[in-house]
Amino acid sequence: MAIRKVGVVGCGLMGSGIAQVSAQAGFPTVVREVSPNALEKGLGSIRKFLQGGVDKGKLTPADLEKTLANLKGTVELADLADCDLVVEAASENLALKRDVFESLDRACKPETLFASNTSSLSITEISTFTKRPEKVLGLHFFNPVPLMKLVEVVRTLRTTDEAVTAASEWCRAIGKTVVSTGDTTGFVVNRLLVPYMLDAIRVLEQGLASRDDIDNAMKLGCGYPMGPLFLGDYVGLDTTYSIAEIMFDEFKEARFAPPPLLKRMVLAGRHGRKTGRGFYDWSTNPPS
Ligand code: 3HC
Repeated sequence: MAIRKVGVVGCGLMGSGIAQVSAQAGFPTVVREVSPNALEKGLGSIRKFLQGGVDKGKLTPADLEKTLANLKGTVELADLADCDLVVEAASENLALKRDVFESLDRACKPETLFASNTSSLSITEISTFTKRPEKVLGLHFFNPVPLMKLVEVVRTLRTTDEAVTAASEWCRAIGKTVVSTGDTTGFVVNRLLVPYMLDAIRVLEQGLASRDDIDNAMKLGCGYPMGPLFLGDYVGLDTTYSIAEIMFDEFKEARFAPPPLLKRMVLAGRHGRKTGRGFYDWSTNPPS
């Protein structure tokens, strides 16, 4: 089954990027948000990114127009009914995802493949929210979606080869490189990345080194493009916290446990770039 039309649920940080790269690669793409305001914010961030690409000479004004013409925003899940693939990129909340997938299952044609961009919840559990578990898989993108080349394609014990092949071909068609992984919490990247980011917070918490020294150590000592604390702010400390909690719950290993400082920062509303304050102050350019 070839993917021709794509639906995306959620137009936040990840959903807007996924909708953008899909539309940019020529796929008619419908992106759904819960309210007109949230939708406008998401579409605005897509327009801003595309305009940034034009300003940098990476794409032409005609490319920008073509991408926007392929993109339709909606607040109705029913508008995704005739999509061949729907990628869900809502918040990391299982109850919310249950609601979304049950509704999608009722609304979409029987052939539609369902993917979740979850970074830590179980794809197998998500598949039980539908009557088509063999057509459910994980497509885990990375932030910023338009620039990061990887997608983890996650299959459960029940996902068919046809579903994996069709979804992987779509990922390649939108310019991504695919790695295949089984359905374990965190898949490959977050299994390795999350304990590293949590350890960086512990190093700060224990007073071993300052924020800037920790970030510079990993940037200049290991060639990473961002230090781990900057990356935490960039991904969102609320997101990092909820991924850590889910991973700790799954593996019961101390290395996945969210450090107290992370919990306090989330409780205090310091979620990083998205709230303007995290380990860094994001109201300045560059963040200070
Ligand atoms: N349109 C088109 N191209 C653009 C663009 C735009 N709006 N903005 C930037 N670019 C291009 C630039 O022109 C440049 O291209 P070039 O390499 O051909 O010159 C390239 O993208 C890089 O852009 P910049 O030079 O402006 O930016 P940086 O060099 O500072 O790189 C970054 C930015 C790619 C974000 C880099 O800092 C990076 O890789 N950071 C790490 C990000 C990371 O680790 N992400 C994963 C997070 S974990 C996750 O998402 C999983 C989740 O489950 C938690």
